[in-house]
Amino acid sequence: MASRSQSRSPTTSPSTTSSPTNESESKSVTESVYKFPKENGRTYHGYRAGTYHFPNDPSEIDRLDFQYEILKYCFTNRNYFAPLKNPRRIFDIGTGTGQWAIETGDEFPDAEVQATDLSPIQPKDVPENVQFFIDDASEEDWALPPEYFDYIHTRVLLGCFTDFREIIKRAFYYCAPGGYMESQEIMSTLCCDDGTMPPDYPFLEWNRYLEDAAMQAGRSIRIANKMKRWYSEAGFMDVQEKTFKLPINPWPRDKHLNTLGKMQEDNWMAGLAGISMGLFSRIFCWSKTEIEVYLVNVRKSISDKRVHAYHRVHVVWGRKPFPGEQPGDAALSTGAATAVQSYANTSRSESLGSDFMNNHNLAGNVPTNDNL
Ligand SMILES: C[S@@+](CC[C@H](N)C(=O)[O-])C[C@H]1O[C@@H](n2cnc3c(N)ncnc32)[C@H](O)[C@@H]1O
Repeated sequence: MASRSQSRSPTTSPSTTSSPTNESESKSVTESVYKFPKENGRTYHGYRAGTYHFPNDPSEIDRLDFQYEILKYCFTNRNYFAPLKNPRRIFDIGTGTGQWAIETGDEFPDAEVQATDLSPIQPKDVPENVQFFIDDASEEDWALPPEYFDYIHTRVLLGCFTDFREIIKRAFYYCAPGGYMESQEIMSTLCCDDGTMPPDYPFLEWNRYLEDAAMQAGRSIRIANKMKRWYSEAGFMDVQEKTFKLPINPWPRDKHLNTLGKMQEDNWMAGLAGISMGLFSRIFCWSKTEIEVYLVNVRKSISDKRVHAYHRVHVVWGRKPFPGEQPGDAALSTGAATAVQSYANTSRSESLGSDFMNNHNLAGNVPTNDNL
């Protein structure tokens, strides 16, 4: 179990961490953070190297920034759905380039926003109330007091963890009573409602390969459609879910979905190689050339507007109950709604303390974590 001083290296304000207990250990952690292993022309995170299979180089950074814009557009300009009322402490797990944390810091200037990642790929020039840390969220100990955060957020963390339920459970522990957790995830399975996606569609095959490789790597990408259940199992109450369509190209007639599809097609073109390279080379032992040749046809198929395919984005949020509050207790639940408003007004020290489950599964016999 790593302590905050051992593993949590700030990438913005160094003065905020406690001093290292073991200087050489701290030095090697810091060195590993900035030493990016290179494979097949891409770089990957150095801290806890090998656990996350997608790159962290400039082209992936651009793609993540673009993905942030895509999801914001998908959610019609929203960054969150939980009913937040002046949260004091906000946490973004696996922040990537930190765009979400920065915008949220701007929206809630009185809140302290902490965000963590394995890679130091966040900008240096950020709002004063936003801090980035290098930390592994799969560590049991987040080196913070329990019930610290009023709002904990995760977005596009598919394939990051051996068991996302553990992250939800830990977030429950670090969430203040009355506070919220929210996850925004893309379901990996490709959907099509009108029979225009043939069984031999190359992008469908690619999806199966990716799901298969991620399962073999022990980090499933099929998490989005299970989050609602996992939130309830972890103890969150009033768990809500919204789902959104994310077309793979501009095939829809609807203007919003058409624009979204155009953006997503560009994102696939920019990201397909990076998303494939780590998993296909490490798990299937394909060479860089084999992967590049394989992707030529996949790219073509992504742009085929005759195929009306899309991914589902699942957004789930839930509230941590107050002590003694039972799920389904209507009276307490109403009281809790009032209390949620008032906890936000307490001082920091006080506050310490339609589902698309059927998801048109066309993924054949790909092993899944559906039994989790
Ligand atoms: C696909 S990116 C999403 C980034 C951001 N949430 C967004 O929506 O743009 C996933 C991020 O999770 C980070 N990550 C992966 N495993 C992690 C872990 N164990 N602890 C913290 N961050 C992790 C990766 O480094 C990467 O930046």
